[in-house]
Amino acid sequence: PRVAVVFGGRNSEHAVSLMGAGSVLDAIDRSKYEVIPIGIAQDGRWVLAASDQRFAIEDGELPSVDTTGAALALPSGSGSLVAYDPGAIPVELGSVDVVFPVMHGPYAEDGTIQGLLEMAGVRYVGSGVLASAVGMDKAYMKTVIAAAGLPTGPYVVIRDRDWRLNREQVLKEAEELGYPVFVKPARAGSSQGISKASDRAELESAVEFARQHDPKVLVEAAIVGREIECAVLQSLGDEPAAASLPGEVRVEGGQEFFDFEAKYYPDQMSLTVPADIPQETAEELRAMAVRAFEALECEGLARVDFFYTADGKLIFNEINTMPGFTSLSVAPQLWAASGLSYPALVERLIQLALS
Ligand code: DAL
Ligand code: MG
Repeated sequence: PRVAVVFGGRNSEHAVSLMGAGSVLDAIDRSKYEVIPIGIAQDGRWVLAASDQRFAIEDGELPSVDTTGAALALPSGSGSLVAYDPGAIPVELGSVDVVFPVMHGPYAEDGTIQGLLEMAGVRYVGSGVLASAVGMDKAYMKTVIAAAGLPTGPYVVIRDRDWRLNREQVLKEAEELGYPVFVKPARAGSSQGISKASDRAELESAVEFARQHDPKVLVEAAIVGREIECAVLQSLGDEPAAASLPGEVRVEGGQEFFDFEAKYYPDQMSLTVPADIPQETAEELRAMAVRAFEALECEGLARVDFFYTADGKLIFNEINTMPGFTSLSVAPQLWAASGLSYPALVERLIQLALS
């Protein structure tokens, strides 16, 4: 079968996607699959990847989709290298058996590329349109999760119109959560646009900062607790989705929370698998992770993140329908510790998409 690995994208998690795609491209069984790497540049142009495309952070510099020279897309049937216009989709995409979108964030993990592939009748790895869209929007994500009976923390949504017209009212509502709060763009990932605010002035600038990513913003009450994450994988047959061993993530680099640097630069965070929590808590957490996966009707893989508070409560934080996916990322590590190696995980996801 032919597999298109699509990476990059028009969002702030562009580099994170490349890091994951590099791992997937290394792990795919080339004796079994013909692999076509396809990039989406930061400006939205689609390109067939050059062989020297860089996928890793080098000398502190983040990778991005290379649109120069040989990296330009070659439409089938044409004799020369041409660049696709922004928004034009390579025809190669329609001729593959399965697409593996190793991408995060808006225009990538939010149902848009999933919708495009549905329209084109092409199979793809991971969640469909609805789950992707709900999983991308932290406000709708929490609405669906709460409706499924899982505990979520208190939060306030600030929509563009309210911020422009009723700012005082909105700030008062947010302050009722009690400081400190975390302020997040509703639709972003990898901690982009997130900051912590401890007073009114910080809150206002935190909202403005988040609004650089999304005019819709969430203010969340800070929850004091350990951060425990669990990966969920759809089964190949009719069995319910399975949960990995839970793992605990800790910031090691001195940051106050899991900011972008803590997540992607070396030695800034640690993962302990299995998390050192009581057995029954671990079982409850795994069941909750599967419930979250099912509540959104996810497919393929997801990572579900929880807080474990000092008084023993588990609180849902978020779900990622395409979690960070380098071989050293949390979800792959959780599966490796649970007995499923990274290449086996990649193979399973492709098989799920093909089945
Ligand atoms: N959004 C990033 C990739 C994650 O949650 O892993
Ligand atoms: Mg996320």
